[in-house]
Amino acid sequence: MSEQVSTLTVTDNRTGRTYEVPIKDGAVRAADLRKIKVDDSDFGLMAYDPAFTNTASCRSAITFIDGEAGILRYRGYPIQELAEKSSFLEVAYLLLAGELPTREELATWEDEITHHTMVHESIKKFIDGFHHDAHPMGMLVSTVGALSTFYPDAKQIKDPGLRRLQIVRLIAKITTLAAYSYRHSVGFPYVYPDNDLSYAGNFLNMLWKATELKYEPDPVLEHALDVLFILHADHEQNCSANAMRAVGSSEADPFSAAAAAIAALYGPLHGGANEQVLRMLREIGSPENIPAFIAQVKDGKKKLMGFGHRVYKNYDPRARVIRQIADEVFKVTGTSPLLDLAMELERIALEDEYFVSRRLYPNVDFYTGIIYQAMGFPVEMFPVLFAIGRMPGWLAQWEEGLLDPEQKIARPRQIYIGHGERPYVPMSERSQTAAEDVDAIAAQAAQAAPDRPLR
Ligand code: CMC
Repeated sequence: MSEQVSTLTVTDNRTGRTYEVPIKDGAVRAADLRKIKVDDSDFGLMAYDPAFTNTASCRSAITFIDGEAGILRYRGYPIQELAEKSSFLEVAYLLLAGELPTREELATWEDEITHHTMVHESIKKFIDGFHHDAHPMGMLVSTVGALSTFYPDAKQIKDPGLRRLQIVRLIAKITTLAAYSYRHSVGFPYVYPDNDLSYAGNFLNMLWKATELKYEPDPVLEHALDVLFILHADHEQNCSANAMRAVGSSEADPFSAAAAAIAALYGPLHGGANEQVLRMLREIGSPENIPAFIAQVKDGKKKLMGFGHRVYKNYDPRARVIRQIADEVFKVTGTSPLLDLAMELERIALEDEYFVSRRLYPNVDFYTGIIYQAMGFPVEMFPVLFAIGRMPGWLAQWEEGLLDPEQKIARPRQIYIGHGERPYVPMSERSQTAAEDVDAIAAQAAQAAPDRPLR
């Protein structure tokens, strides 16, 4: 990134006036456009950018993505190398501290996380209150948010020591909350953390332990899950990181901000996509149905879930790593017919002009669902696994935002397109049109089939 400041010369054709706007790091400051006015009463020019497709909301030193080239680096280290050589907790440390830990630093960090995995017993009662088929992601949003009520010290976001404590708590406890949510949904008793196990190993213990005295995770699956967490650990200013930063910018505590980030991740266009990939593959059913499905996608009737990305216009580098670990996992679990279907779907899509011309490639979610399913996770748990992996990234983004002297409370502008001031309409003079619309929408909603969980 260049420090050199150059300028942009803009002529406002409404007034004929010319302005110089500084360019730094390939960007102009939207606030600099405000000086471009028709007259003194004019508010000044704004930048209109719904969904922030071309707006940098912050300066960040955490994650670098080159979507054209398919590059992803955390703090400068390529994702492929981190996935191959580091553990998830090591990567979490890197994202938060900015450097890879020394042996001693890593040992202390692992020890801290391990000793914060317990949650208050009241949380169990809280989870018991959910309906038996409550989506675990809904439970996770609520319980992570509820943690703020147990830790009032979390409000002191300007205290570095207390900030670090909440960071440790969130990374440690999210696995426990996720596992408890799952155990509740299947009606199994909750399993306490086992401090002898690794981060991923303990998570598997809390999920799957039955009557055995000591749960022993399969080392291949434990490693695969750890790598999947690494691949999800951060992805710069995505929808959920943006939610984390936006809520954090109001100086809310990190548990509340993380609950908002999890809520953002819940959506099918973000972390919910891997769940949708599996539903899609089941709907397609077998390879001979792929062409008909692709035709529907091209007609705009369906989306090819797990394909396309706002930033990557090339193969998602995370999807490449996942393809490799899929082989290791399937050696243990046995292969899945959905894997063959997914590979055939990918092959056909990558040869099709529709996908080629739009530069739509598989993203991280295309294969994760199939691996998770082979490992025994129900589809509702897929976005939960994404949330566990993403927690260190959200926290790094949150803390970076708080420490950035340029950040203020997030508060975008709008272009108002509604009515100007108009006379109030008394009840007796109102038309029926709006009420009829509401009735029609309610009738439609009542007819719609409820989206039943897929197991
Ligand atoms: N299937 C079919 N067409 C697609 C798809 C898709 N998955 N994705 C994009 N397109 C088309 C889109 O219709 C548009 O076509 P046209 O130019 O004819 O209007 C063109 O490609 C450009 O797409 P876009 O909607 O402008 O792209 P976007 O940056 O707004 O959307 C996306 C990115 C990820 C929301 C979108 O690609 C999508 O909905 N993909 C499926 C859901 C998915 O897999 N999400 C996981 C993303 S990776 C995990 C994460 O980081 O959260």
